Amino acid sequence: MSSEKLAIFGGEPAVPAGMLTPEKRDSLFRAMVLTKEAEDAALEVIRNGDFSGTDITMKFEKEFAAWQGADYALCYANGTMSLAAAMFALGLGEGDEIICPTKTYWASISPALGFGAVPVFCNVTDMLSMDPDDLERCIGPRTKVIMVVHYLGYPCDMDRIMEIARRHGLKVIEDVSHGQGGHYKGRKLGSFGDIAAMSLMSCKSFAAGELGILVTNDKKLWEHAVAYGHYDRNHEGFITESEDLNEYYHIPLGGVKGRANQVCTAIARDQLIHYEERIREIRRAMNRFWDLLDGLPGIRGIRVDESTGSDMAGFYYPHGAYYPEQLDGLSVDRFCRAVTAEIGETCRPGANYCLHTHPLFKTFDWAHRGKPARTAFAERDVRPMDDLCEPSTRKYCFSVPRFNYLDEEVIERYAAGYRKVAENFRLLLDADEKREMGGAWHR
Ligand SMILES: Cc1ncc(COP(=O)(O)O)c(C=O)c1O
Repeated sequence: MSSEKLAIFGGEPAVPAGMLTPEKRDSLFRAMVLTKEAEDAALEVIRNGDFSGTDITMKFEKEFAAWQGADYALCYANGTMSLAAAMFALGLGEGDEIICPTKTYWASISPALGFGAVPVFCNVTDMLSMDPDDLERCIGPRTKVIMVVHYLGYPCDMDRIMEIARRHGLKVIEDVSHGQGGHYKGRKLGSFGDIAAMSLMSCKSFAAGELGILVTNDKKLWEHAVAYGHYDRNHEGFITESEDLNEYYHIPLGGVKGRANQVCTAIARDQLIHYEERIREIRRAMNRFWDLLDGLPGIRGIRVDESTGSDMAGFYYPHGAYYPEQLDGLSVDRFCRAVTAEIGETCRPGANYCLHTHPLFKTFDWAHRGKPARTAFAERDVRPMDDLCEPSTRKYCFSVPRFNYLDEEVIERYAAGYRKVAENFRLLLDADEKREMGGAWHR
């Protein structure tokens, strides 16, 4: 182990200031990379005033479905709406329970409130992935849907989750917003559940501006997803198998308009052409980064064992898992502040906060029923929230940069910043105010 003066105490930072030119920084870290062809395609939509058409969107849907290996795809204006349409298509309604990991972005579950459904929050593993054991504990007589989130691109344990879903007769939605193109045991994420939905907004690695898309192999589910918010496709030209929809044409049955802007779908068509190649390059870079940090105390990459045929894609928001117990209780906040000083970029603790802690679910009387949103329509006292607050179930994590390509020298420097802090963690313990706590618990 090296013992060097940490940058937070005035030592030399691992990544020297000015090491990266602005151009280099942009090419290494920029989230939305556009080709000239993508820009031209977007301009053409603008010049033709084709924002509200669907011809380009439908081409993209066909191409995306083929890439995803699904029979049907449907765009929405954003990922949140595509998730809402998936819930609508599966018939989620008042009092139905939907199980979702607590550690995810709010959009994985919030649309369920609009259907009068009951969110049930499930714990996650230390890879921040839905914990199948806890999933099983969450199931009750009113459970209807499992919302699987391949959070941070890490593929969930789909063997176990699908076995549980089948055994209990539950529907499955996969939220693939962080992992487009990733695999679980050789099979593409988004191909396991009844429907997969995802965000393609500008920070995602599949970045199309503001866009969402869902995929399914079930024509009736697709038609119901159409009827939810595509009033202009809710007619006999598109709805051919769902007789229950026949008398409800021309008005969106979800009461919302969800058509995608064709500037975004034009960009998305070009992004699809380059996506696999870009993801391969990011994966190479991230694997190298994590290889350099293997075996250190207290930190471990959130990444999958590729020898199983699984892999990560997306890389929207890469993180490492943090184990304060291996670092004499050093808080993740202090660890992150020390890393920030080393690398000159913000290293953030926590990723998304655990949703069951948010006042929207705990106290907000969303339905004006004198009850918090979480239980407004519940028929049972859905598992007490404190179950998730046990110290043993605390999950900590920290952000790492996402490298668009493998630049050996740069990646070594950044990895050296994390390594230096982990190896010298004892120097940080004295002034660590949160040490006993190991950081705010939800991080
Ligand atoms: C896991 C997850 N699901 C859903 C969404 C919602 O997507 P959008 O922002 O496109 O509505 C996001 C967006 O960040 C997300 O991270």
